[in-house]
Amino acid sequence: MNSLQVDPYALLHTTEFSGLARLGWERLRKSRHGDLPGWLDHIDRLPVGNFNCDLNRDAPVLGAPVEEPGMLEKQLLKLQPWRKGPLQLGGISIDTEWRSDLKWRRIAPHLELGGCSVLDIGCGNGYFGFRMLGAGAKLVVGIDPTLIFVMQWLAMQKMCPGLKNFVLPLGIDDLPANTKKFDRVFSMGVLYHRRQPVEHLEQLKSLTRPGGQIVLETLVLKGEGEKILDPQGRYCRMRNVHAIPTLGSLLRWLEQAGLPDAVTLDVSATTTQEQRSTRWMTFESLQQCLDRENPFFTVEGHPAPVRAALLIKTCP
Ligand SMILES: C[S@@+](CC[C@H](N)C(=O)[O-])C[C@H]1O[C@@H](n2cnc3c(N)ncnc32)[C@H](O)[C@@H]1O
Repeated sequence: MNSLQVDPYALLHTTEFSGLARLGWERLRKSRHGDLPGWLDHIDRLPVGNFNCDLNRDAPVLGAPVEEPGMLEKQLLKLQPWRKGPLQLGGISIDTEWRSDLKWRRIAPHLELGGCSVLDIGCGNGYFGFRMLGAGAKLVVGIDPTLIFVMQWLAMQKMCPGLKNFVLPLGIDDLPANTKKFDRVFSMGVLYHRRQPVEHLEQLKSLTRPGGQIVLETLVLKGEGEKILDPQGRYCRMRNVHAIPTLGSLLRWLEQAGLPDAVTLDVSATTTQEQRSTRWMTFESLQQCLDRENPFFTVEGHPAPVRAALLIKTCP
């Protein structure tokens, strides 16, 4: 049976966020992406999993080990590129491009997710959503317009059904104005892709309930004061990076968006241990995007990536 004959958001329909479930399901069914039939075929060939899971691990466990691991691995490899993880699916270890567990370790000690509804904007395949459930969130709605990541989530959902972590094929601008507010809103690795950063921050605020919290993670420039790098052209070989602020400028943007209550949780340079090519993501990665002679700079001559994570409280 084709994986899209069953609504993967059925469980989300039963919650207060049923409007988003309808939107996500409609978008998925109506997608005309040329690779979709092939991806769905790969997912159809995956074994139906069981409810075995352990989400409180660097590599969340989804589904018990299968009888034919070789077959499963072959099918999962067809859903490349696997960027966010690591993951343990049906006993197969997926060594993703990103060691997203390292980012999680930097922010998790500062989060209070118990019983919370969470919106994760730019969630990728939903890796962090599984970690959030593991940390006590009652439900996670992830949105990401990149369809292959939704396919990876569909595969995980098939291997381990029944978890309230959803990945919807939507961008932030697809969310209706009357979207129900969440207790927690995450925007990690998205702000620098937005042409209007303050507008993005205002959107985050409008999606968070009064007294709720926002987790913002983004590229920053090292240094004091207010300065913004606008890489005309590429940054680290990425085409769509629009603005990289110093922390001072980022805090100013937050104030402009009506979010003055922000605490910096962490500032870390991204390393080639954290982001690298693997068997599960065979394209170029950070190593190839840094200056060979001086890895403190990108191949374009910009400062190498440094990321900051902030916790922002909204007014009660
Ligand atoms: C750099 S990745 C970050 C993924 C993950 N949040 C993390 O921190 O590792 C950025 C993600 O944002 C998604 N994205 C890009 N534009 C978006 C938009 N307008 N709304 C929501 N997600 C978007 C991309 O598809 C991609 O998966």
